[in-house]
Amino acid sequence: MQATDQTEQTLFEAAKYNQAILDTVADGIVCIDARGTIRTFNKASEEIFGYTAEEVLGQKINLLMPRSHADRHDDYLDNYAKTREAKLIGSRPEVEGKRKSGEIFPIEVALTEVAYNGEMIFVGVVRDITERKRIEQLKSEFIATVSHELRTPLTSISAPLALIHSGKLGTLPQMVSSTTEIAMRNCQRLTSLINDLLDFEKTSSGRAKFNMQLYRIEELISQVLQDNFTMSEDFPIRLNLPQETADERILVDKERLLQILGNFVSNAVKFSDDEKSVELYAERKTDTVRISVVDRGIGIPEEFHDRIFQRFSQVDGSTTRKKGGTGLGLAISKELAKSMGGEIGFSSNEGQGSTFWVEFPQERRPS
Ligand SMILES: Nc1ncnc2c1ncn2[C@@H]1O[C@H](COP(=O)(O)OP(=O)(O)OP(=O)(O)O)[C@@H](O)[C@H]1O
Ligand SMILES: [Mg+2]
Repeated sequence: MQATDQTEQTLFEAAKYNQAILDTVADGIVCIDARGTIRTFNKASEEIFGYTAEEVLGQKINLLMPRSHADRHDDYLDNYAKTREAKLIGSRPEVEGKRKSGEIFPIEVALTEVAYNGEMIFVGVVRDITERKRIEQLKSEFIATVSHELRTPLTSISAPLALIHSGKLGTLPQMVSSTTEIAMRNCQRLTSLINDLLDFEKTSSGRAKFNMQLYRIEELISQVLQDNFTMSEDFPIRLNLPQETADERILVDKERLLQILGNFVSNAVKFSDDEKSVELYAERKTDTVRISVVDRGIGIPEEFHDRIFQRFSQVDGSTTRKKGGTGLGLAISKELAKSMGGEIGFSSNEGQGSTFWVEFPQERRPS
């Protein structure tokens, strides 16, 4: 009897100890069983949702969700009970939560499952992302406004400059002509930076429009060669297009895909130094078609690999950099590929060259 008392005491102490740890965690931790009943609700969860643990323990998790999610969640748990297939486990979806006050707010939930005493327990680590979303919104509005405000006066500067430079207003002395040319070139750089920024904001906030159509790979590839003909005069682009791939079709917005591949080609040329070899390669994978641009240029250092698709990230970011560009090309390309249902990636060894690729599902539908 005494032994049982002691065991109970030990268990009680262990539970208190675990609860104390859970309560120091800055993220909300909410555990539910397979029926959706709340079994754990730590201090941070109380702060996030406005309920005390006593109010929610034993209640259904639906209490913490807006109606639309709550219905879907029941289906999800039912489906899990039948199929044991937990699609969201291991992911970190952004969803909506509901506070005690009724306020709906954005949360990020990292989900895992644990088997405990023969039953399945789902553990959700909940983060309130209201502030992050607000800042993202502010930032994208700010960029959109500033870029718009800059574009108008910039057009008023570059159009007259082009007119002066053309000589239609009178022949210019050589010195004036070369000065206006520099001014024009810088106007163009500024315009393309502003356009890139706007483009990035539009695509990443989901406001960009895509005109998705089916295209044969051969048609797309020949367009890339044509578009980049002048840039690659010193760098004739080699084409590697197996016949089986040429006839494949993918569903894309053609202009946007050409923008992605144009950036791959311009990077390949720009970062190739003396090794003048750029290859455009299309291959059929199991369910997808991959288009790659392969160069034998300077390559990308290992420590830079996980930053390459971030905005403004350039291996040589110094002001004395020799190569032009703003470091937005790949960030935009990634957003564009994602928005069209594709994937983007690369492989590279420093000093040996790089391969940048974009991949889309093969389309089986008739065009
Ligand atoms: N093929 C490549 N070989 C070596 N480095 C590359 C290659 N492609 C990209 N990089 C590195 O990644 C950086 C980012 O590329 P990204 O296309 O985003 O920007 P950028 O070319 O510098 O400027 P932008 O495309 O905006 O004009 C480059 O500055 C370069 O350091
Ligand atoms: Mg680029």
